[in-house]
Amino acid sequence: MSKVLLEVEDLHTFFFTRRGVVKAVDGISFYVREGETFGLVGESACGKTVTALSILRLLPEPAGRIVAGKVVFDGTNLLELDKKEMRAYRGREISMILQDPMTSLNPVYSIGDQIAEAVRMRHDLPDNMVEPEVISALRLLKIPSPETILGEYPFQMSGGMRQRVVGAIAMSCRPRLLIADEPTTALDATIQAQYLALFKDVQKKTNISIIFITHDFGVVANMCHRVGVMYAGKIVETATTSELFKAPKHPYTVAMMDSVPRLDHKDKRLYSIKGQPPSLMNLPPGCRFYPRCSVATDVCRKREPHQVEISDGHSVSCWRVQ
Ligand SMILES: Nc1ncnc2c1ncn2[C@@H]1O[C@H](COP(=O)(O)OP(=O)(O)O)[C@@H](O)[C@H]1O
Ligand code: SF4
Ligand SMILES: [Mg+2]
Repeated sequence: MSKVLLEVEDLHTFFFTRRGVVKAVDGISFYVREGETFGLVGESACGKTVTALSILRLLPEPAGRIVAGKVVFDGTNLLELDKKEMRAYRGREISMILQDPMTSLNPVYSIGDQIAEAVRMRHDLPDNMVEPEVISALRLLKIPSPETILGEYPFQMSGGMRQRVVGAIAMSCRPRLLIADEPTTALDATIQAQYLALFKDVQKKTNISIIFITHDFGVVANMCHRVGVMYAGKIVETATTSELFKAPKHPYTVAMMDSVPRLDHKDKRLYSIKGQPPSLMNLPPGCRFYPRCSVATDVCRKREPHQVEISDGHSVSCWRVQ
């Protein structure tokens, strides 16, 4: 098995607002191996993006703060680095692709200039090596005629092509870990499928580790080797993708799986989970899924379940498996 590149241990990230403390990430642990894609999946507002921003230490300050935990990247706890040391990791070692490509591209600079700026972040690269690197990043993301695209601006490109450019920028410093935060949400189905295939191709060529963030279990099945299912600031189940789809154990995972459209089912009505996730500012005392869980018992309301490893690499936080 390949070595563990990133290990997140008991991470707690809160927002201190005038209305109260938002426990956006409330004690999560996971690891990512070299060359592996780890999926973080869960409904909107469960803490996926805050997890990603915590790893890169890009939380909006002063409200957002990491209050406990470790983020160990290749043996170094990133949370102990000073600002300058941390900057050396961003882009070069770990890079991130955001959900909306338009927010990551600058409309007034050409594509070539924007990728060149990212390439220059890598130290000691002579000027004459910048353009070949830019072109090789565009090629890696299979952008047609890269030489001619250098002078183009974001508005001249289709949504799918812009998202590839964002991918090229993220890959241009040859990072070892890529965090892709719902990178296909803004794309239509065909372009999405092409983009996902491209990701797999990039991983095959570079052996990069990926944290793939999504709310879509269909995308998880297609993209990820292992998965953490997030609910209200916690990871409630972790398993390999095949194990998770074969034998999901947490009632939230089971409910989410039931809401994925399946071609082999005649009944087109989809199951959806009743109710809403709890407010992260005012969490219930027991299991956070209790108000929506159809198999809850009395203990669930009173005490929070701890995480139990039920088989090799398969962990669940639910009283039903303890
Ligand atoms: N700047 C902020 N101030 C206060 N709360 C925030 C801030 N950013 C995110 N949050 C809260 O943190 C929680 C997790 O958000 P997020 O990680 O963006 O969810 P996801 O990416 O899973 O949709 C949400 O409840 C959100 O409202
Ligand atoms: S601990 Fe109880 S309420 Fe929570 S998911 Fe398990 S059965 Fe449902
Ligand atoms: Mg998000």
